Amino acid sequence: SSAQIGVTGLAVMGRNLARNFARNGYTVAVHNRTAARTRALVEEFGHEGGFVAAETAKEFVAALERPRRLVVMVKAGEPTDAVIEEFAPLLEPGDMIIDGGNAHFADTRRREKALREQGIHFVGMGVSGGEEGALHGPSIMPGGPKESYDSLGPMLEKISAKAADGTPCVSHMGPDGAGHFVKMVHNGIEYADMQLIGEAYQLLRDVAGYTPAQIADIFRTWNTGRLDSYLIEITAEVLSHVDAATGRPFVDVVVDQAEQKGTGRWTVQIALDLGVPVSGIAEAVFARSLSGHAALREASRGLAGPKAAPLGESEAAAFADRVEQALYASKIVSYTQGFHEIAAGSEEYDWDIDLGAVSALWRGGCIIRAAFLDRIRAAYDARADLPSLLSDETFAREIADAQDDWREVLIAATRQGVPTPGFAAALAYYDALRAERLPAALTQGQRDYFGAHTYRRTDRDGSFHTLWGGDRSEVSA
Ligand code: 6PG
Repeated sequence: SSAQIGVTGLAVMGRNLARNFARNGYTVAVHNRTAARTRALVEEFGHEGGFVAAETAKEFVAALERPRRLVVMVKAGEPTDAVIEEFAPLLEPGDMIIDGGNAHFADTRRREKALREQGIHFVGMGVSGGEEGALHGPSIMPGGPKESYDSLGPMLEKISAKAADGTPCVSHMGPDGAGHFVKMVHNGIEYADMQLIGEAYQLLRDVAGYTPAQIADIFRTWNTGRLDSYLIEITAEVLSHVDAATGRPFVDVVVDQAEQKGTGRWTVQIALDLGVPVSGIAEAVFARSLSGHAALREASRGLAGPKAAPLGESEAAAFADRVEQALYASKIVSYTQGFHEIAAGSEEYDWDIDLGAVSALWRGGCIIRAAFLDRIRAAYDARADLPSLLSDETFAREIADAQDDWREVLIAATRQGVPTPGFAAALAYYDALRAERLPAALTQGQRDYFGAHTYRRTDRDGSFHTLWGGDRSEVSA
């Protein structure tokens, strides 16, 4: 037994993660259900470091130093359970199974509990950064028993991305499902970021009248400022790409129906359960789903709407600046909502997740990595119990500065009939939080009227009911 770590499941993410460990000096046992893949990996990349190819589960387990560290990189769901069932009986107390897939945190909680009874440490580990990240340094969100991090942590710190200040983009998120929960919300925020960028693109195209190539340049400029991020950077690349077959902008030849594997949807489902308003993330999920309803869209194409009239050149440039403000303000709101969900999950499941640590490890390696996250980290460093990102002085001031433009952009979008659910939901959230009074009071009145559901008063404690069908006097409930 000579391998410090093992990876089973050698599709592209598993293979790249195994190579990353090997390139960092670890001896890595590798295993795959079909052994051809294992052999191919060692043949192709064996020169990169120490690999031990294992054909069978028994060989794989025998190759690992104790306590064994076994990383599972298979499809989330049943395949993960199948692998656990195969390996758990071969392991001994103190050994570790590390699930690096996009598992649902509830599954992770269940698995952790079951394995804990056998003395096996189960680490649900969120990994972000796609194929390249897995190879060159992902952002890593491990959960599970704290003591597992003592021996696993240093290895993860080695293979992880490093933030601009050199800090490894990994830390222990909390017990059982905490890591996969944080990864789930990462993906929800990723959906929201992508949707907001998409709306900005659509506005620049339909309202400002820019071409995809011009919009790519605008994004490149934005990427030198406060919006500096991986997603803005790759957006410019995608928009400037020209389709070889037709000579048209690539973005114009791709079918406009967005797919999803489910992590964004989970973020919203769980937020509903926790009662956390993640309206921006929800709109992003719904926007993907709407885009996929081809027949419904086809049937709706004839519906009336305003005629788009693109702006003149100088107006267009001013409008682009406004869109940047709207995008930035909406982005602050998405992150506010996402961090609220993490805080609520942490509270519900007793995870004690450090929001500052989450923002710190998202600074590099992951899909939502951005200069912006350093500022979120600073906000939580200054005040760990920040009730909301919007309560941070800097963010509040930036939104205050952006809000006129944000509103103007939404007015233009509405007038021209360009759908901007993400920008609009973000602004509605902001305005609702600011509001002195909300129509929720009226909702309570309606509920009391039709269902005697009772209400509380602003001037006295207690629950009350009005006898709506009678003399409309008020009774204590
Ligand atoms: C990451 C990504 C990764 C994956 C998503 C894509 O952090 O590296 O989020 O996990 O690319 O699952 O999600 P959709 O297929 O749902 O867009």
